[in-house]
Amino acid sequence: MLSWDEPISAAPVRPVPTRTPGLPVDAASAPAIAEIALSPVAFSQAASDVRRHGRSQSSQSTRRVRVEDKRIINGGADVNQLVPFKYKWAWDKYLATCANHWMPQEIAMSRDIALWKNPAGLTEDERRLVKRNLGFFVTADSLAANNIVLGTYRHITAPECRQFLLRQAFEEAIHTHAYQYIVESLGLDEGEIFNAYHEIESIRAKDEFLIPFIDTLTDPAFVTGTPENDRKLLRSLIVFACLMEGLFFYVGFVQILALGRQNKMTGAAEQYQYILRDESMHCNFGIDLINQIKLENPHLWTPQFRDEVRDLFHRAVELEYAYAEDTMPRGVLGLNAPMFKGYLRFVANRRAQQIGLDPLFPQEENPFPWMSEMIDLKKERNFFETRVIEYQTGGALAWD
Ligand SMILES: [Fe+2]
Ligand SMILES: [Fe+2]
Repeated sequence: MLSWDEPISAAPVRPVPTRTPGLPVDAASAPAIAEIALSPVAFSQAASDVRRHGRSQSSQSTRRVRVEDKRIINGGADVNQLVPFKYKWAWDKYLATCANHWMPQEIAMSRDIALWKNPAGLTEDERRLVKRNLGFFVTADSLAANNIVLGTYRHITAPECRQFLLRQAFEEAIHTHAYQYIVESLGLDEGEIFNAYHEIESIRAKDEFLIPFIDTLTDPAFVTGTPENDRKLLRSLIVFACLMEGLFFYVGFVQILALGRQNKMTGAAEQYQYILRDESMHCNFGIDLINQIKLENPHLWTPQFRDEVRDLFHRAVELEYAYAEDTMPRGVLGLNAPMFKGYLRFVANRRAQQIGLDPLFPQEENPFPWMSEMIDLKKERNFFETRVIEYQTGGALAWD
C-alpha cells in the first residue's frame, strides 16, 4: 500500500556512480524563457549554460536515451523522453495519484452550512479553530503549487519525477479549490481568512520559515551543478516534503478530522480526508526523491549538512506547536495543545528516519492512532459515510 507509513527504505533505489566531472548538465535546469526575459543576469547565465552544453531545452542530441544517463538532478538525458523508465517508483506513484482523483464540489456541504449557521451548532472555540485552520490552508497550497511549478520542476531532470510533479501541481490546485469551497459554503469573511497568513502571527511565522527555501528554487538565477547549489536544492526539498507537507499540515488535519469524528463539519472533514491522502502521497514521493538524490550524490550528505537539517526540524516543530497553541488556547474536541507536542515529535521522528536521520526526540508515541487509519484509508470506503464516491471518474465525450 502506498501510504505515509511506507517502509523507511521504500524507494526501490539503485546506487549509481556519482556525477562525472564534465558530464552535461541538462539545460532544462536553466531558467525558463519567461523568467530569462525578466533578468539580464539570468539570461546571460542561462545562455552560457546552453552554449556550454550545446543543447537547448528540447535537446539537440539525436542519440537515443539510455537508462544509465538518467539522473534525478544534473542528468544528461533528454528530459522530453519519459521512457525507458529508470525511476519506476515515481511512475507508480503518478499512476496511484491519478487513480485517487476527486473534486471538491462532489462533496455535499449542506450539513456543514446548517451547523455553522445554527448559533448553538458549534462553540466559539470550535469556530475559532475552523477559521484559524482555513487561514493557514487557503494560502499554503498555493505556496506549494508555486514551489513545484516555478521552482522544483525545472531542477529535476528525471522525466518520471517531472510527470509526478505535474500531477502534484494539479492536486495542489484542487486543494486550494477545496479550501475556497469550504470558505464560500460557510459564508466566512474571505478577506479575514485569505489574509490570515499576513495577519495571524502563528500562521505568518510558519510561512516566513518556508519562504526562503521556496525563493531559492524559484530564483531565476539559481541553477544546480555545484555541491553548494545541489545542497541548497536538497535542503529546500527536505523542508518542503518533510516539514511543510509532512509536518506543518498535520495539526490542521487532526483538528478537522477530529470534528468529523464527532459528527461535526462532516463535509469539510471529508474534503480534508481526501487532501490528507493526497498529501501523504506527495510527502512519500518527496522523501523518495530526496533519498534517490542522496544515493546518486553521497558527497552532499555531510555531517554538517545533517546537523543543519536537524536544526530545521527542531525549528519546524516549535513553529507548528505555536500554531497548535494559537488555534486551541483552551481544550476543544477532547484535544489540547500539549497533546500536539507529542504528536509533532512523533511525526518529526518519523520524517527524520525516512530520510536517514536518527529520531530527534526519544520514545514519542502517537497520541492519535486513528490518524494512521485515516491516512491509510482505501478509496472504496468513505469514513464519514455521507456519500459513496467512485474515484475512477472519467467524462464521456459526446461527438454529436
Ligand atoms: Fe496540497
Ligand atoms: Fe502537497
